[in-house]
Amino acid sequence: MSHDSTPSPITAQAGTALRGRLRPPGDKSISHRAIILGLLSLGETRIEGLLEGDDVLRTAAAAKALGAGIDRDGEGRWRVRGVGVGGLSDPEGVLDFGNAGTGSRLMMGVVGGHPVTATFDGDASLRKRPMRRILDPLVQMGVTVVQQAEGGRVPLTLRGPREAVPITYESPVASAQVKSAVLLAGLNAPGVTTVVEAAATRDHTERMLRLFGADVQVEVLGHGRRVALTGQPTLRAAEVVVPADPSSAAFAMVAALVVPGSEVVIEGVMMNPLRTGLLATLLEMGGDIERLNAREEGGETVADLRVRHSRLKGVTVPPERAPAMIDEYPVLAVAAACAQGTTRMQGLHELRVKESDRLAAVAAGLKANGVPHAVEGDDLVVHGDGAAPRGGGTVATHLDHRIAMAFLVLGLAARQPVTVDDGAMIATSYPAFLADMRALGAAFRE
Ligand code: S3P
Repeated sequence: MSHDSTPSPITAQAGTALRGRLRPPGDKSISHRAIILGLLSLGETRIEGLLEGDDVLRTAAAAKALGAGIDRDGEGRWRVRGVGVGGLSDPEGVLDFGNAGTGSRLMMGVVGGHPVTATFDGDASLRKRPMRRILDPLVQMGVTVVQQAEGGRVPLTLRGPREAVPITYESPVASAQVKSAVLLAGLNAPGVTTVVEAAATRDHTERMLRLFGADVQVEVLGHGRRVALTGQPTLRAAEVVVPADPSSAAFAMVAALVVPGSEVVIEGVMMNPLRTGLLATLLEMGGDIERLNAREEGGETVADLRVRHSRLKGVTVPPERAPAMIDEYPVLAVAAACAQGTTRMQGLHELRVKESDRLAAVAAGLKANGVPHAVEGDDLVVHGDGAAPRGGGTVATHLDHRIAMAFLVLGLAARQPVTVDDGAMIATSYPAFLADMRALGAAFRE
């Protein structure tokens, strides 16, 4: 997946109803973390259901470069032999993270707690994304930024200390990536490293650190959390079962809601409450979504979701819900375009620094397809009349997988076909997206 590859346009058009069952790929956040904690533990970690998207494969390659032994036994079945906290070795060559913000930022935390020097780089999208939010706390923990591109971006080189300085960090942004980078660096700090977040973000790092044997204390503070990790534990290899990614399930969920006559069951979707903001919003919009067969899998609650075509209505989505659905706004905008009335999504500033400026990319995609909308400060306002949107536009995806998938969903419901200029990046998070959706009846032309 290189930013130099020739663009692969894809067109979606309305046709038949979507029907059948679908199992989305493994959760991307948990997949990155399973490889990283495998690297930092002693023994052999076994992973089932790993997302084999390009982003996670980059993290696996980086873990290998830092000393892990990595084997793939079959689809989604991986083994990682770790080096233990304190055991990393200098990587040869650049750690190229491609499009992966999570992989690169979490690995900066790992390197930041160890006496190794590593250079991080990525594609044209990653090179635009802010890394100061990670570098600032890491510098407080003793990391030297040897070199960096203008504005604190990759390519950048970090040199970690012999052991990190334990700090208390009040994160200025609601970001699980920032929290995780600090905690991962804190693994090799003599003492307690604390992160205070004003709004609770996904807690997969905390949960998985415990699974591998670390002491992590969490205190709820209003909407936020205080997370304290005791440094220099001996992490022991674990068995990780990766549940299906709610952020990937989101596309089939919205598609089934907006394509007339549809009924789809999406299997094994992770129901971690810090990830279910889209589900809550779609239910408020009148979506017919049933949770079936709720059960525990790999330390998370999962459920099958039965989704039927529904007459959606516009709602206001409050800013405090953003962390629980931060990656789902592009596809929520598509649901809003098909709904009756106005949907106001508040407090979307973080969308400007994702794989693309998602606020701008979504607005441009809506415009190209005749959907009335406005960006008002950090809010996105979408007006629907309950009828199928016009469609007929070509959407610039800006190397952003979720922009590509969201607008392909719009094309399945619109009166005229919708084209995305490049679908190549879909492979970063959901390599089987086209095949899975076609199996339900979706009409895509490559
Ligand atoms: C992620 C956190 C979120 C999310 C990203 C995955 C993670 O980013 O957008 O896709 O796995 O920690 P931020 O933490 O920057 O909001």
